Amino acid sequence: MTDPQFVLAERVQQALGTAFGTEYATEDPLIRPSQFADYQANVALSLAKRLRRTPREVAQALLDALDTTDITAEISGPGFLNLTLGDGWIAEQAVRRLRDERLGVAQAAPPKTVVIDYSAPNAAKEMHVGHLRTTIVGDTLARTHEHIGNRVIRQNHLGDWGTQFGMLIEHLLDIGEEESLRRLAAGDGNAYYQEARLKFDSDPEFQERSRRRVPLLQGGDPETLRLWHEFIEYTKQYFNHVYAMLGVTLTDDDIAGESMYNPMLADVCEELLHGGVAEISEGALCVFPPGFTGRDDTPLPLIVRKSDGGYGYATTDLAAIRYRIRDLKADRILYVVGATQSLHFQMVFAAARMAGWLHDDVSAEHIQIGSVLGSDGKMFKTRSGKSIKLTELLEEAVVRAEAVIAERAYDPAVRRQIARQVGMGAVKYADLSVSHDSEYVFDFDRMLALTGNTGPYLQYATARIRSIFRTGSYDPAEATGPITLGHPAERALALQLLGFGSIVESVAELSEPHRLCNYLFDLAQAFTTFYEGCPVLKAEDEEMRQSRLALSALTLRVLLQGLHLLGIEVPERM
Ligand code: ARG
Repeated sequence: MTDPQFVLAERVQQALGTAFGTEYATEDPLIRPSQFADYQANVALSLAKRLRRTPREVAQALLDALDTTDITAEISGPGFLNLTLGDGWIAEQAVRRLRDERLGVAQAAPPKTVVIDYSAPNAAKEMHVGHLRTTIVGDTLARTHEHIGNRVIRQNHLGDWGTQFGMLIEHLLDIGEEESLRRLAAGDGNAYYQEARLKFDSDPEFQERSRRRVPLLQGGDPETLRLWHEFIEYTKQYFNHVYAMLGVTLTDDDIAGESMYNPMLADVCEELLHGGVAEISEGALCVFPPGFTGRDDTPLPLIVRKSDGGYGYATTDLAAIRYRIRDLKADRILYVVGATQSLHFQMVFAAARMAGWLHDDVSAEHIQIGSVLGSDGKMFKTRSGKSIKLTELLEEAVVRAEAVIAERAYDPAVRRQIARQVGMGAVKYADLSVSHDSEYVFDFDRMLALTGNTGPYLQYATARIRSIFRTGSYDPAEATGPITLGHPAERALALQLLGFGSIVESVAELSEPHRLCNYLFDLAQAFTTFYEGCPVLKAEDEEMRQSRLALSALTLRVLLQGLHLLGIEVPERM
């Protein structure tokens, strides 16, 4: 690992060991970015009390023990150790990165099995922008874990089962199979559901038929199952269409919908009951995980089997977590799901812990996804108030993107292709660049802007670097240095480039794609400052030109790799 923070952390740890004894050599040196140097180590402040010395004394002892090859260090303020890397070291590391296919991203050793539950739209309800966001964030986490060498198992926990299918199948029979399936494949599932719901609420005969259909489905009546299957298949076609538009890596092989767990539910209940984890309460089978209370401090139940014998969302999730640990052998399970389901997952995890399924070697994490809001600050809907059809939203992004790039004259087919990449890039980047648990306002103008922290800005940054190489008839693959850092902007750019590996690892560790977005944005800005201050093609001499071309080529590769992990395609020109 040659990321600057790691190198400095190691150095300071060595010094901690030398100065205060080996038990201090594993202390976190608290390396942070600094205003007055490249980084600062804050450990002297945190250790002072324990060592019964002043922070400045601790910092002095560290400084005396520090190996200062390639770095300069000085004490500042109350006891910060300011650290500055030598230009020669930075330049040499940058050249090494150019030769490193992985650009400084380490391989996970040993690899972990990471199950990622994401997207998970409902076959009978709307797929809304909320699902779009879990899809996009989840996909980036999947790509990132794969890239660092973990074994990734995607699980699309489709809502494809439940009593509502009684009503939907009856509606399908009323409307006609062919017409129904056409509408479902076209993404009309939401309106379709609402029609069925309306009839259910207003027509007693329809309601009665729908109720009678439920046990037929659950009991496995062949004709009912066939209709249900058709329903799911055609809805899946629509989801796949959305995934394809977005360039999401989910395939049909990743579908592990609620229906898949149906055969396991009785056994899950059995195991919970016999293990003394669940108990019968008012006719229902419930788990009462300690620490969860409702109003009046009454224990809150997680209902595993309803009093009428039916199973619900919690039962399926308990079956799923058991399956993911026992059968899929997960080390980590990431649930990329709306923040509103937080209590549900806390209780499911607690129950799974009580059952002994979720043990200390496995971590189950709810990656909470914040809501996407409209400009009115409410949940995002179309103007008419109906919730929006996703494909239409994505198509609108493409149309608007075309306006962003319209002035440049390309062949129409190429232009459409670029518009698609820019439109989808804008939508995806908007989801990824804010921390996953915060809300944000869906705003086409902002996400499509060519300036600021947007997808199109980063895409444009890559296109601009490519055009430098095109203009000078140089090949980025042949720009291998050597690099010399004469100008502060060259140095700042090179230093930023060396941070890529640790950023990618932190995205995987903390499940926070916005860190990578911020890093890439800072990198693109560092490049802009460099490009404004340091002519590349018009450099003073060939050596300087080669050095700057090498920095440009490395910037291009890091941007492309980073955007690839974010699932954002990049047009050659823009
Ligand atoms: N289908 C659910 C919804 O739309 C999300 C499922 C998330 N995954 C899970 N294992 N519960 O809200």
